[in-house]
Amino acid sequence: MTTDTNSRPSTGNAALALDGITVRYGTVTALDDVTLTLDRGRVCGLVGTNGSGKSTLFKTVMGIVRPSAGRVTIGGIDPAAARRSASVAYVPQSEAVDWDFPIVVREVVMTGRYGHQGPMRRPRPADHEAVAHALERVQMTDFADRQIGQLSGGQRKRVFVARAIAQGAPLLLLDEPFAGVDKSTEFALTAVIRSLADGGHTVLVATHDLAGLAQLCDEAALLQRRVLVHDTPGEVLRPENLARAFGVDPLSAEPRSAAPLSANAPAALSAREVR
Ligand SMILES: Nc1ncnc2c1ncn2[C@@H]1O[C@H](COP(=O)(O)OP(=O)(O)OP(=O)(O)O)[C@@H](O)[C@H]1O
Ligand SMILES: [Mg+2]
Repeated sequence: MTTDTNSRPSTGNAALALDGITVRYGTVTALDDVTLTLDRGRVCGLVGTNGSGKSTLFKTVMGIVRPSAGRVTIGGIDPAAARRSASVAYVPQSEAVDWDFPIVVREVVMTGRYGHQGPMRRPRPADHEAVAHALERVQMTDFADRQIGQLSGGQRKRVFVARAIAQGAPLLLLDEPFAGVDKSTEFALTAVIRSLADGGHTVLVATHDLAGLAQLCDEAALLQRRVLVHDTPGEVLRPENLARAFGVDPLSAEPRSAAPLSANAPAALSAREVR
């Protein structure tokens, strides 16, 4: 962990290492020389304004967006190899899902087990157990046979977190899992994330819930195209640090300075997303 964003820590055996990552969408620089290293068994919160680059960082780790500079390694291997070996699970901010598709919750969570199954994708007892266990952890067992379109927004979020849990990947990337969920679900998901870390998983989680950061995370990174601070939640939440990222102290909501919403020019259409 470092607050010195110019340092180049040894990425050795880290669960996740980004080294000098720059991502551009046309003329928009979404990430600018981002270096971030996560050790195993840690929960790291990713915090920053809308447009600060959080989702872009996740997409870069997944190999969905290609950086113009820098390198990502997941447990020492590159993103494509990590995806092939199912060693990283990703819950995007919004799912590109056909909600009318006739698939039930249990089957959605089972798709997280594909990496463990043969080409015929025939579930084995261990796969059924993993799915049942994951549904239980997010308290969605009672909805297992419900069509995915017949769920509320918060319930859908929980199902996709369950799919990531069922995958059993050592690294989990959760892009705003608390968006649109109620407080009891947020507490339940926080407990799930903490217990995943206790079991040795590493979790990078984007969140706007600064009040819940200390309960959720061992460490946090404050992003504003660059990593401004990477330290304990307490350090990250210091008013002077929040003011650097948000222009206000969001916890007290007192204006500190009139910062622009984004330093970037309007988004260009030539995104370099790799499909
Ligand atoms: N496909 C794209 N094409 C062009 N610009 C993009 C694209 N995706 C993101 N951007 C731009 O990149 C910057 C970072 O966006 P990103 O989605 O990573 O932010 P974020 O921190 O996840 O924001 P939020 O909190 O709103 O989810 C923004 O300026 C955004 O407008
Ligand atoms: Mg986002």
